[in-house]
Amino acid sequence: MSLLATDERNADQVAYWNGPPGERWRARQQDQDTLLAPVTDVLLQRAAPAAGERALDIGCGCGTTSIELARRVMPGGRVVGVDISAPMLQRAGERAPADLPVDFIMADATAYRFDPAAADLLFSRFGVMFFAEPQKSFANMRRGLRRGARLAFACWREPRKNPWLMLPLEEACRHVPRPPAPGPEEPGPFAFADERRVRGILDQAGFREVRLEPVDLALDIGVGRGLEAAVETVTGMGPASRALEGQPPDLRTAAAQSIRAALARFQVGNTVALPGAVWIVSAMSA
Ligand SMILES: C[S@@+](CC[C@H](N)C(=O)[O-])C[C@H]1O[C@@H](n2cnc3c(N)ncnc32)[C@H](O)[C@@H]1O
Repeated sequence: MSLLATDERNADQVAYWNGPPGERWRARQQDQDTLLAPVTDVLLQRAAPAAGERALDIGCGCGTTSIELARRVMPGGRVVGVDISAPMLQRAGERAPADLPVDFIMADATAYRFDPAAADLLFSRFGVMFFAEPQKSFANMRRGLRRGARLAFACWREPRKNPWLMLPLEEACRHVPRPPAPGPEEPGPFAFADERRVRGILDQAGFREVRLEPVDLALDIGVGRGLEAAVETVTGMGPASRALEGQPPDLRTAAAQSIRAALARFQVGNTVALPGAVWIVSAMSA
């Protein structure tokens, strides 16, 4: 697969999601889906895909939500999953049953020429926080929507409300240098934490009736397999994994020990549930 469209300002993200992090997301696909299932459930409910609809799944990764959407728009509908990560899209292609109406495209959603005014739903599970110029990206995606089409996506709220991501980072930083804190508007997991910023981006990109619904969750980072799986989760994705990237093995081992000790306090049987906080964002295309 090769990248069909790209915006040079997102080159860092293309490199990131095609490097080791993209490979880890592919390898962890099943666990990520278990972990994020509570978000998927509420997001699909708010998006309300219906038979016959056309949906775009932005930053579709390993394809789980595209496949779910495709099941719900049958008969007569179709889903296009768009992503910049070759390893994750490869996994998506392998998983999608041949008879499902879903296509996967490797392209930057900022620059890809979507079929004009064709889609009924613009959807994303954590795939829209990585754009260098989000307003430009959303304006481009909106061109692919018919008037009155729906937008529904999930993004993380601020770091302090997401201990499942920040507690492992704090523990890792006892052993490895703390990565520079990203600016609140820099591409990354928390780029859409600020409600006013999200409203501004969507208003200017031509969306109306913007609504941000706060949803608080208990996320089982042990994915039903206990403490070791929880350590694997937070060292495999998210801010702690970014801090540990490229560090010597002895420091990684020491960091994992601290993380394990901190997470042990949250273990109940095979679950290790920590608080997480998302926005479920919805809007209409004007
Ligand atoms: C946190 S992952 C979420 C993946 C998937 N939606 C899920 O929930 O498992 C973010 C995804 O956004 C994709 N992405 C980042 N920038 C993008 C862009 N400009 N255009 C399309 N996809 C992008 C990444 O490659 C990655 O797959």
